[in-house]
Amino acid sequence: MKLIAHPVARLTGRARAPGDKSVSHRALMFGALALGETAITGLLTGEDVLATAAALRAMGAQISHEETNLVGGVWRVRGFGVGGGQEPAHVLDLGNSGTAARLLTGILASHPFTSFMTGDASLRSRPMKRVIDPLSRMGARFEAREGGRMPLCIVGTDEMVPIEYELPMASAQVKSSVLLAGLNTAGETTVIEPAATRDHTERMLRHFGAEVRVAPADLEGVKGGGRRITVVGWPELVARDVDVPGDPSSAAFAVVAAAIRPGSDVLIENVGINPLRAGLYTTLKEMGADVLYRNTREVGGEPVADIQVRGSELKGVDVPSERAPTMIDEYPVLAIAAACARGTTRMLGLAELRAKESDRLSSVAAGLAATGVKHEMGANSLIVHGDGKPPAGGGLVKTHLDHRIAMSFLVLGLAAREAVAIDDGSPIDTSFPGFASLMNGLGARIETV
Ligand code: S3P
Repeated sequence: MKLIAHPVARLTGRARAPGDKSVSHRALMFGALALGETAITGLLTGEDVLATAAALRAMGAQISHEETNLVGGVWRVRGFGVGGGQEPAHVLDLGNSGTAARLLTGILASHPFTSFMTGDASLRSRPMKRVIDPLSRMGARFEAREGGRMPLCIVGTDEMVPIEYELPMASAQVKSSVLLAGLNTAGETTVIEPAATRDHTERMLRHFGAEVRVAPADLEGVKGGGRRITVVGWPELVARDVDVPGDPSSAAFAVVAAAIRPGSDVLIENVGINPLRAGLYTTLKEMGADVLYRNTREVGGEPVADIQVRGSELKGVDVPSERAPTMIDEYPVLAIAAACARGTTRMLGLAELRAKESDRLSSVAAGLAATGVKHEMGANSLIVHGDGKPPAGGGLVKTHLDHRIAMSFLVLGLAAREAVAIDDGSPIDTSFPGFASLMNGLGARIETV
């Protein structure tokens, strides 16, 4: 499905951000690991989250959806409890979702049965070794393709040994996978992360009644900010309702689109602003964007605001590598803001971008090349040169099964001199169903070709 975005003068109006993908996956998983019925509102119904729901059903969770007068209705999960899942009778297909694959591997590995997992071409090319390594140390066994890629066979055990694991990379998915395995493990399981990554798992573990301890951990040779997270095994998780906040990573597309079109004035409601997710908003403010948090409040244990953004002239900035974990999914759309800014934007510490739905560093660089934006790609860095004028646009961008590449370059098309087309818009439904109509409601012109 080819999509095209035409240049528009400005964006105006208000829209509600879709549910947070990370929180949605976890709400379903914790609901399944708890006893009793968990009611979830605001759940993202993107394909990634539905893949998690299907996998949990295959393990014995009862998951149903009910339309109510609340936006998106209510999802109800009747859980099987910690260690109480059944052996799935078929291969679990997790589609495009790395979060589903990594987190569920932690749950499956700590059950005494064998399970099988696969995904689409993107997910089958992504590294699973990063979870295989710690979970093997805990006692599970795995068979995988060359390089630790899916399809994956997980030979689980309910006699895992607790470990203290130092993450080789800042990854909330790997951290969460080990902590989830630690739930069905006697004793205390500890993960040490080199830099603080999104902490939705820790927040939700507490919400459902587990004991979690978090302490600072400054590792040798690593700049501060690391954390040591310990979960106490075999808690009795109790069903708790979850209200999922809006996704800052999805809101980012509308926010950047408005920020780069002077004259725009947009309000995106109900956006999660957890400090471990909000690095893009900090960076946009440094670039001179007029971004304001309004009506700041708490939703489901997470800080939330309505984000008002008015279009203005942006300037290039240096984005420090320490900020990367707090905006890891936002570099593609930040590159679009940088292309429209005056001056040079330097983004450092981007090695992890190569392990996303596509090699995002290469996908962004190729997209910038196709749309006439001057840039330089390094092994772990991206430098974008803008002259404060709309970029040329006009190209066809390859999305490589990567939703964020698709949406980012459509945003560029709204602000370029000529329309920008993407070869495949179908991955957008993994995280942001209704993206084009939400954007068009704000004055964008995104069409299927
Ligand atoms: C996620 C963590 C991030 C992020 C992904 C969602 C999560 O991945 O890129 O979209 O929900 O834990 P890593 O933890 O591997 O960086």
